[in-house]
Amino acid sequence: MSILAPDVVRETDAFPSARPMTVTVTGAAGQIGYTLLFRVAAGLMFGADTPVNLRLLEIPSAMRATEGVVMELEDCGFPLLRDIDITSDPVRAFEGANAGVLIGAKPRTVGMERADLLAANASIFAVHGRAISEAAADDVRVVVVGNPVNANALVLAHHAPDLPKQQITAVSRLDHNRAVFQLARRAGVPTSEVSRLAIWGNHSSTMYPDITHAVVGGRSGAEYAADTMWLEMEFIPSVANRGSAIIEVRGQSSQGSAAFATKEHMYDWFCGTRPGDWTSAGVWSSGEYGIPDGLVCSMPVTSDGSGWTVVEGLNIDPLSRRYIDTSIADLLEEREMVKAMGLI
Ligand code: NAD
Ligand code: LMR
Repeated sequence: MSILAPDVVRETDAFPSARPMTVTVTGAAGQIGYTLLFRVAAGLMFGADTPVNLRLLEIPSAMRATEGVVMELEDCGFPLLRDIDITSDPVRAFEGANAGVLIGAKPRTVGMERADLLAANASIFAVHGRAISEAAADDVRVVVVGNPVNANALVLAHHAPDLPKQQITAVSRLDHNRAVFQLARRAGVPTSEVSRLAIWGNHSSTMYPDITHAVVGGRSGAEYAADTMWLEMEFIPSVANRGSAIIEVRGQSSQGSAAFATKEHMYDWFCGTRPGDWTSAGVWSSGEYGIPDGLVCSMPVTSDGSGWTVVEGLNIDPLSRRYIDTSIADLLEEREMVKAMGLI
């Protein structure tokens, strides 16, 4: 795993040299799993020098479909893809895993909030937490993608008490990418000219996309944030409600953008964030920015490849404080819900 790994030019260009990564993907035959796996096998998640062993976990009724995914992966002839195993046994799936991508869970449908999925999904993460604890490599890094991600990650952490909390994350990269795009469009610049944006809080409609520290085409994001009418009536709701908007239009939840965001989360975590920029990830809180201890909360983070570091010393203005506090209250409420379910 080198941060100097050359970018992949063609998906079958590869420069295997690093130690192989064993990657467990749950929900492998679902929408996101299907889209993501070809990127992982192409070297886009861990770098073009890193061979991968895939461990695919699915429920028994989806094993046949998973076999089809394996056939298609084989048919690509990816040079980095060393080995594939499929199973419906969580302990076998996480055996020796260095990375866990936990997608396997129900998606919401029109009119639902993500928290409405807790009853169906949270218990899955208790099972998978125990399996990770029992079977994964000590250095395993886990990202929860199945919704509601922050509460599910809390459940997982509770059932894998020996796993360092820094190794458990929830994806908020999709919200981050959505906010980057909306801000770039507002400013009339390419997304490559937007940096230092932050998503705070829960991956729910209370998330807060913070542009006050952003740099946008050489200008300060605070200049755009000063237009509070646009900020509060257009920008924040468009990012916070984008998941629902996609479901309305597609009839099912995001797939390509979700797989891309998951890949980006893992790539940055393992290979490092861009110099001078940061990203957002749901990480374990320990009192940063007034966020209570023991929540999995999205914050601005950087990585040098060895782990996430929360960006320190940001000035939080009163409007941002109000939005962040609302999302913290939402996270605390979800924590109470999983407590009431007896899962933590
Ligand atoms: P999907 O229904 O297409 O696929 C889910 C897959 O998970 C299915 O194949 C199912 O068989 C499998 N599964 C269910 N229970 C499992 C278990 N216990 N073990 C292993 N596999 C299991 O759904 P999808 O569109 O791929 O979405 C998956 C999850 O990701 C949903 O919860 C969705 O809300 C969430 N999601 C999150 C984000 C995000 O940014 N956080 C974005 C999009 C979707
Ligand atoms: C998203 O943000 O697109 C996903 O979390 C799916 C959803 O339910 O909104």
